[in-house]
Amino acid sequence: MSKAPIGIFDSGIGGTSIFKEMHTLLPFENSIYLADSRHAPYGNKSKQEIINLSIKNTENLLSKGCKIIVVACNTATTNAIGYLRATYNIPFIGIEPAIKPAALNTKTKTIGILATKGTLTSKLFHQTTDLYSNGIRVIEQIGDGIVPLIETGKTESEQMRELLKIYLKPMIEANIDHLVLGCTHYPYLIPLLIEMLPKQVKIIDSGLAVARQTKSILDQHQLLNKTLIKPINMFYTNGSVQVLRSIINQKFPVEALDF
Ligand code: DGL
Repeated sequence: MSKAPIGIFDSGIGGTSIFKEMHTLLPFENSIYLADSRHAPYGNKSKQEIINLSIKNTENLLSKGCKIIVVACNTATTNAIGYLRATYNIPFIGIEPAIKPAALNTKTKTIGILATKGTLTSKLFHQTTDLYSNGIRVIEQIGDGIVPLIETGKTESEQMRELLKIYLKPMIEANIDHLVLGCTHYPYLIPLLIEMLPKQVKIIDSGLAVARQTKSILDQHQLLNKTLIKPINMFYTNGSVQVLRSIINQKFPVEALDF
């Protein structure tokens, strides 16, 4: 079972930012990535729709023999992971906006969070925020329109710049010193964000934390692949093969799949 692949899914190509962290930390693990780009963005869908899409992705990964599933999507985690954990007898790793380190380290007592509507309106997000944000001002911003631009390869476009200018303005005016990226697509915006934010603003994303958590859960379940054989890291998309290929290293195989 330890040689079985790690399953990873996202509403599209954003979860590759998590894959990259995982592959660095766990270079001998086999993996299968599902980019559900046809149904992106998940962020504006209802909780039930997000659960249904997460079930579809999970069952696809289970049919391919995955030993663990990483829900590499904040929107799917905050809306569906409870259901998935209660339904399937396999460990699930989720990703949530890293409010805690931002709230613990802020000096201006003001932090920003950029995420989808689905994440920002979820119960899980509010529980975490309430737990850590005592005395801290949290400026929440829905990143409407960002995911479709990334999904169509327009990450560094003029349109993206215009959107970010609007979304960052209230945060900059409020003097945030941490910006939490609450969507796995957003790490691809980091070069643009560095350019647009005041120097003192620290950008926080949860990719490395998810990779570490995956390693620790695999270890706990005695599922770490201890062989030192070159792994197979397979990528499937029901959207554009070309866009997915352009965002990951060319050495990984990408195939079209109807799911
Ligand atoms: N990568 C997803 C997330 O982390 C994007 C959500 C969407 O498709 O709107 O939330």
